[in-house]
Amino acid sequence: MTRININDKYAFGRDQQESERLDAQHKLLSKITDNTLIDPSIPPKNVLSVADIGTGTGIWLTDVSQVLDKTNTSCYYHGFDISADQFPKSPGNIEFSVQDITLPFPKEHWNRYDMVHVRLLVVALEESDYKTAISNISSILKPGGFVQWEEIDEETYISSPNPVIQEIYRCFSVSMKAEGKCFAASAKVYEECMAAGFLDAVRVEYNSDSNGDNRRETEKRLAAIIKSLYASFLLRSGQVVDEEAASKRAGDLIEHHWRLCADGQSPPVKVMRVIARKPLDGLSL
Ligand SMILES: C[S@@+](CC[C@H](N)C(=O)[O-])C[C@H]1O[C@@H](n2cnc3c(N)ncnc32)[C@H](O)[C@@H]1O
Repeated sequence: MTRININDKYAFGRDQQESERLDAQHKLLSKITDNTLIDPSIPPKNVLSVADIGTGTGIWLTDVSQVLDKTNTSCYYHGFDISADQFPKSPGNIEFSVQDITLPFPKEHWNRYDMVHVRLLVVALEESDYKTAISNISSILKPGGFVQWEEIDEETYISSPNPVIQEIYRCFSVSMKAEGKCFAASAKVYEECMAAGFLDAVRVEYNSDSNGDNRRETEKRLAAIIKSLYASFLLRSGQVVDEEAASKRAGDLIEHHWRLCADGQSPPVKVMRVIARKPLDGLSL
């Protein structure tokens, strides 16, 4: 099992195995969201500068740059993350910087971006961080620019009849609550965008079940989440005594998951997406 640093605020590792997991997960998320890396409500011809915060390996930004570069000239791309550990070795035309979403961005980024993308910070942010994060996103968006924030949050787990999903929900809820985090991340993002005066805010759901072709990959990604995040949360929240016990519990749950899948009980994943627009006359945050 990947070594777990229980003193780190961040529950995932940042090694090669985790980078591979993120890239594989990105492929599945793209399929679940009907290959709309940029939401259809955002006119692509107006997107000439894009920021991706919590970028990880930069996989979303890399794919977006390949799409936009076909039609838009001189696009500017910038990936931000609290750690540089997973930044690509050959970043091409994408800039990468170390930046915490909960801290003010350097002045050179203010009012710079037509679109800011954020994905999968649910296990990283504390509940009180969301308001600051939205304020910081607003500061780097141009007036009229869009935020697109995507999460796999409690909506995937909350009322599932599947006992494996119920166990993940129990474990994540207990652990995230103990760490002051918010499992209802997409609802929180939507609420903070509204409170901050963003316009046209919507929260949409994409379900992996809407395309049967996603099933096998969804099952594999869920097993990877149990191996990494479930094991990490068990240990961090003191539900097991050591890494070996966490690994054993995660292994048992993965076996149970595969048995249910073989029995036709393959659980869906929901990707929650919030899109909102900074007013043309700016925001007073
Ligand atoms: C689960 S990964 C998702 C990576 C990427 N967004 C994706 O969808 O493939 C979360 C990323 O957020 C970064 N992160 C955690 N806390 C952060 C913070 N406060 N500000 C910026 N990035 C953060 C982590 O280092 C990690 O790279």
